[in-house]
Amino acid sequence: MPASPASMTCVDEAEPAPKPRVKHLLTGAELDGAAVKDLLELSRQMKIHRGAWSGALAGKTLAMIFAKPSTRTRVSFEVGMKELGGYTVVLNARDMQLGRGETIEDTGAVLSRYVAGVAVRTFAHAELEALAAASTVPVINMLTDSFHPCQALADLLTLAERFGSLEGVEVAYVGDGNNVLHSLLLLGTTVGVRFRVATPPGFEPDPAVVQAARRNGSEVVLTHSAEEAVAGAHAVYTDVWTSMGWEDERETRLKVFQPYQVTPQLMAAARPDAVFMHCLPAHRGEEVTAEVIDGPQSVVWDQAENRLHAQKALLLRLLG
Ligand code: CP
Ligand code: NVA
Repeated sequence: MPASPASMTCVDEAEPAPKPRVKHLLTGAELDGAAVKDLLELSRQMKIHRGAWSGALAGKTLAMIFAKPSTRTRVSFEVGMKELGGYTVVLNARDMQLGRGETIEDTGAVLSRYVAGVAVRTFAHAELEALAAASTVPVINMLTDSFHPCQALADLLTLAERFGSLEGVEVAYVGDGNNVLHSLLLLGTTVGVRFRVATPPGFEPDPAVVQAARRNGSEVVLTHSAEEAVAGAHAVYTDVWTSMGWEDERETRLKVFQPYQVTPQLMAAARPDAVFMHCLPAHRGEEVTAEVIDGPQSVVWDQAENRLHAQKALLLRLLG
């Protein structure tokens, strides 16, 4: 017999609906400040006690789909899943039926029947959204043309290790208003990081992302002057001038971005204890000089290592 409407009511209407549990990580906007702080604290613990969660994802599998190359993301997710007792299936998008026209939605629905989570690195962000909409398991963005949230979590962990509280930490981002910047803005502003972003005209971050980041309550200043952005900053962050997928624009970009190279002179305008950050891979002599990236202020290897710890925390929260 069907249940009566009264007996189907299980939530007291006077109570506010609980915030839905984070299921996917697609941009960074899914996480509020409390969720980011929780992930960073868990990452910190996982870094200190590296083997302590060895059975946490026992028997669970993460499918990883790559439509673009990767070193750090692939290895850190694979090692992370193994350290948590789980497994990975690594798929090159070209070798899947996806590459022969099977829809992304069908791919998501099918993978959801096999694995506990799906991680994707692809081109158009809309592809990832479509896959997430059709998946019944958590979907993690391993980089799209528009966002790179796993990188941003590792970067915030790195900043927290250097400066303690993230509240009021000033990050100068110099270069292309790209995927790495977008997620860094969305996640950093939830925990009080202030941003000054210097790009060439026409290469600013997406205005909708800037607006969303500002709504988190932290300052985001846009400028075309690298010197203005860097003045007094705790961290100077840059990324490649030509991201994967934009190779056709490489020659133009090399010229347009030249005034945005991070040099020792530019670093000298930041705080004396400022750090240099880069998500890697880097091009020495383009977006950064070798003296800076290989010098004492550089924390790029910590950022790379922290991908592992931050992603283990994320995997535990999403798949655990
Ligand atoms: N930073 C980063 O995502 O590196 P990979 O492209 O090597 O994964
Ligand atoms: N912005 C770069 C980041 C690489 C990790 C790219 O998309 O190629």
